[in-house]
Amino acid sequence: MTTNKIALVTGANKGIGKEIARQLGAGGFTVLAGARDAERGELAVKELVAEGIDAVAIQLDVDDPASVRAAAAKVGAAYGRLDVLVNNAAIIPAGDDAVSRIDGGVLRAAFETNVIGLVEVTQAFLPLLRTAPAARIVNLSTSLASFAQVGDPESRMSTVETLGYNSSKAAVNMVTVMLANELRGTGILVNGADPGNCATDMGGWDAARTPAQGAAVAVQLATLPQDGPTGQVYAEEGRLDW
Ligand SMILES: NC(=O)c1ccc[n+]([C@@H]2O[C@H](COP(=O)([O-])OP(=O)(O)OC[C@H]3O[C@@H](n4cnc5c(N)ncnc54)[C@H](OP(=O)(O)O)[C@@H]3O)[C@@H](O)[C@H]2O)c1
Repeated sequence: MTTNKIALVTGANKGIGKEIARQLGAGGFTVLAGARDAERGELAVKELVAEGIDAVAIQLDVDDPASVRAAAAKVGAAYGRLDVLVNNAAIIPAGDDAVSRIDGGVLRAAFETNVIGLVEVTQAFLPLLRTAPAARIVNLSTSLASFAQVGDPESRMSTVETLGYNSSKAAVNMVTVMLANELRGTGILVNGADPGNCATDMGGWDAARTPAQGAAVAVQLATLPQDGPTGQVYAEEGRLDW
């Protein structure tokens, strides 16, 4: 049985999630790399293990409650606790669009994965997080969920017409705040991480930031000291305005 701290990252088979897993692993965590597709998860883990990281693939589709329950049972049986949960898995659904045009099913799909999936994963792992001495929960957010930025006509964020993504991530921010309130005094800190626009399948390959740069703020929030903040969203530059 490992004496390392245990971190689970959802959607860790590529992009920013894989980089978060890599950086936590390099920092001495045993990383459980969540992937909805078991094969893609194993491929990513192979890469991390080759770099000397203690990584284990775990099948976890945030949209599938049975898969979430099974993953939590596996982690419980293998480690008996969870020190860090990074809720990274998310989608911009195909057909995401402006308020006047978006199809209801597309909006529903965004909330299914980005909000309901995230909440169900958090609920499933909360007993194991409570068992750890000082657990940390990090929910990936975005400046597209910031009312201040999207509401500023001068901001580039005001021009991005993806209601499904923006509004589901704004809901994730509320999850972060409410869970932080619920867990205040337990030693568990809950924060949101905005990676900035990074070159990934989601962010577009022409984005200025690397996934590694984007991962750094999430890793910092996953390793906060006991007197660290809770119920906030941070980007590299500091606290993000709601
Ligand atoms: N890239 C950016 O510019 C940017 C900016 C702000 C915030 N973010 C946030 O950062 C996080 C990572 O984004 P990214 O750019 O790395 O995206 P990405 O490259 O598209 O990767 C998303 C990851 O989530 C997984 N995923 C999607 N649906 C899932 C489900 N139902 N169950 C389990 N895993 C699922 C994907 O798995 P598959 O490979 O199986 O699809 C993939 O591993 C997201 O929360 C995103 O909103 C990104």
